Amino acid sequence: MTAGFASRVGDREATATRLLKSSLDHSYEPSIDIDWDAPLVDGLWGVPEHRVSLYGTELWDTLSEEQRRTLSIHELCSVARIGLWFEMILMQMLLRYSYDRDPRSNHIQYALVEIADECRHSIMFAKMNAHCEVPDYRPRRLTHELGRLFKAVASGPAMFAGTLFVEEILDQMQREAMRDETVQPLTRMVNKIHVTEEARHVRYAREELVRLMPRTNAAERALANYLTARIAYVVAKNLIHRDVYASVGIDPAVGFRAAQANPHHHEMLRWSARKLVPFLREQKLVGGPTEILWRKAHLI
Ligand SMILES: [Fe+2]
Ligand SMILES: [Fe+2]
Repeated sequence: MTAGFASRVGDREATATRLLKSSLDHSYEPSIDIDWDAPLVDGLWGVPEHRVSLYGTELWDTLSEEQRRTLSIHELCSVARIGLWFEMILMQMLLRYSYDRDPRSNHIQYALVEIADECRHSIMFAKMNAHCEVPDYRPRRLTHELGRLFKAVASGPAMFAGTLFVEEILDQMQREAMRDETVQPLTRMVNKIHVTEEARHVRYAREELVRLMPRTNAAERALANYLTARIAYVVAKNLIHRDVYASVGIDPAVGFRAAQANPHHHEMLRWSARKLVPFLREQKLVGGPTEILWRKAHLI
């Protein structure tokens, strides 16, 4: 789904009909479908080793194998926590979107299905964080408050583009980890569930964004371009909470600085956004003065 996606956008109701059918055929109930009594497996990673934020740094060399794996569990939970944070924002935006539209349409019925999916995902991420006995890696105060504002006012292209950013970078990371046998079975199952259901959300948001953009004026496009860059920047910077480093005895400020300067971590971020950025460029939502934010976040 890179260049040329716009030419394959289907009729809104036809797409929603397909997504509703697929949701009936392939959906999960994580509270039942995951074995929450199974302990974590010794010797396995939370995320693939080469995706840990300190991988390749001098600090990494000071950690034992066991500490590295512990850090990987905390980073897994931190990413899930930021996912949960954004899902709560998204559920509210989708409800406001549905409130104004005709519920008899499949398009809106699918929006309601997506809210139900996100609700189960948030419970799944919450249970995983509890199961791994990590602290609550919620975003920092200012981010939390900006999220409150965004979920109350965002609509139109910024809502769909911001959503795509979170959904597509998580998709890249989770798709890789769900196939990695060095990773915890819990990670792999959580990721499999999320990847399966999010593929439909991505289709829904991409197509709606393509339909929406020709109807926006220059001011709306500029605002959406700015807000998308802002979300991308904030999410990338909050993906790995600085307190995760305390789990292995590293000062959070020191760990955070090392990760932010780590070329491997930058590469991971660019890799996670590599499919989304060309699509958003096509839609004129990446490019112009705000591109600096994408660069500063190491997303392009
Ligand atoms: Fe989700
Ligand atoms: Fe989603």
